[in-house]
Amino acid sequence: MSLITSPESILHIALHAMDRTADPRLRTLISSLTKHLHEFVLENQLTEQEFERALQFLVGIGQATGKNTNEVVLAADILGVSSLVSTINNLDSSGASFAALLGPFWRANAPICEWGENISRTDLGGQAMEVHGSIFDEDGGLVSGATIDVWHSSPVGFYENQDEHQEDMNLRGRFKTNAQGEFFFKTIRPAGYPVPTNGPCGELLRAQDRHPNRPAHIHFMISKEGYKVLITQVFDGSDEHLLSDPVFGVSKHLVGSFKVDEVTGVCHLIHNFILQSGEMRFPAPPIP
Ligand code: BEZ
Ligand code: FE
Repeated sequence: MSLITSPESILHIALHAMDRTADPRLRTLISSLTKHLHEFVLENQLTEQEFERALQFLVGIGQATGKNTNEVVLAADILGVSSLVSTINNLDSSGASFAALLGPFWRANAPICEWGENISRTDLGGQAMEVHGSIFDEDGGLVSGATIDVWHSSPVGFYENQDEHQEDMNLRGRFKTNAQGEFFFKTIRPAGYPVPTNGPCGELLRAQDRHPNRPAHIHFMISKEGYKVLITQVFDGSDEHLLSDPVFGVSKHLVGSFKVDEVTGVCHLIHNFILQSGEMRFPAPPIP
């Protein structure tokens, strides 16, 4: 180990100290992160006060994370990092991605539902909605027996875990595709909603003069043995915030057509998905 001779020399010494990291991927990632952080500090000539503020932000997002929200995930989301990771890991052979960020509100073990079941189990009013779709593999074949895990916000924009008026697991459910690779469920039309703004991420959004409102959407997590788990969202194409999602989740393939039947008043969405071959691996739930 050598002695520090200049600000720039610290990076070299730090990287040398990490050389013995046994796991090669960990060595690569932490070395690269360290290099970028040192470059960031030098490029911006970070002051001691700014450094202290940055550390306070990190402590703050940890402390604000709890049973009902995950501010650490939210921080990655509002910086566009979650969307970037999701996109680079789910590109198909034509360079398209049908995936979107998980967000902080997925819960494991949503109720298992029958074909066509209604996941709106608490009467919240709102517009009735029916969602249909088909699941394809990369060769255009239909995928039967896939699990479609769905979750979304209420007609006033609250997930069940944020709202004492909704029963546990309301607006959440797991469905199976039939022999033709199709799924069908009933629900109520979700509204857009603000990402949580009462913690450090809200403070950052305000400092950046950014609004917190996500366009209305339904989350999907589609899985079957032999395929990569597809985590995605389908957005209401008529939402005013479609082009200014604070977490950068809206891509071309994920704009849905929420069509209201003028006779019945029911909102219909038909959306198909493509699964890629791979290992079926589920994420860790951001909230319990
Ligand atoms: C969501 O879609 O559930 C979500 C995603 C990012 C931040 C907040 C909420
Ligand atoms: Fe959401």
